Amino acid sequence: MKVISTEKSQILAARIATALNTTVVDVKFSRFPDGELYLAAGKLDDETVIVGSITDSDALIQLLLLIDACEGSKNHLVLPYMGYARQDKRFRDGEPISARAIAGLFGEGIKDCITVNIHEPSVLNYFKVPVTNISLAGDIGDCIASMGLSDPLILAPDDGALAFAESVASKGGWDYDHLEKTRLSGVEVKMAPKKLCAASRPVVIVDDIISTGGTIATASNMLYKQGATDVYAICVHGVLIGGAYTHLKVGEVRDICCSDTIERSCSRFSAAKSIAAAIRG
Ligand code: R5P
Repeated sequence: MKVISTEKSQILAARIATALNTTVVDVKFSRFPDGELYLAAGKLDDETVIVGSITDSDALIQLLLLIDACEGSKNHLVLPYMGYARQDKRFRDGEPISARAIAGLFGEGIKDCITVNIHEPSVLNYFKVPVTNISLAGDIGDCIASMGLSDPLILAPDDGALAFAESVASKGGWDYDHLEKTRLSGVEVKMAPKKLCAASRPVVIVDDIISTGGTIATASNMLYKQGATDVYAICVHGVLIGGAYTHLKVGEVRDICCSDTIERSCSRFSAAKSIAAAIRG
């Protein structure tokens, strides 16, 4: 077995290879003069773990090219971050179900697939191959434990993420809750924990994705007003678009970190061991 990856998932792929006690395949990436993507894989094996987060269109094309290059091998596809999963239904007439369109691309040449904290589990039904969705809630719990916080409150940004926060909190036996938005007027919105009080304690907001950082920056401001001593943000997928990291810092979030499903400078824990365990079965 060998591990092969797209350009933007190289570090995670190397970690998965180490966890599986195997090696990565050397891949040459370049472009044709007209801009089309090109790649050439080195020596392959008869079983291959193909790793590629769908962070943008080029990453998706590289993934499709890699799958084709690995023709004839028993291929396990790993989608650490599946872009387009948030458009999981038709919200308005005329829209595509983007998650279905993307999932449908993976069938021929793939034995099975692994996703990580997919935004909406129903998206798994759109795949044509068996899919296992793994969760890094435990890894986030370990990350929080390493921070040495005293009696932290683990907060989900909304009720839909409460089960995730509960799973993170179970690692340390910490309190958990979710934020609730109350509209005070046409322009004023209050965000506070639904049941618990954030005063005089550190709060860690946990989520699957931080995208613009807007949700967490607003929540952080309000939690400080409610007396929280420090606010931290930890997510699985650090999408972090449009200056999100800075936006969170301005919102006085003390520390922001994510996993390496999207490789960032603030990637502080790895999905590799959990992915390797899922591949081993
Ligand atoms: C939403 O359902 C997701 O779990 C995240 O809360 C959301 O994507 C975060 O978005 P943003 O960082 O842009 O507020």
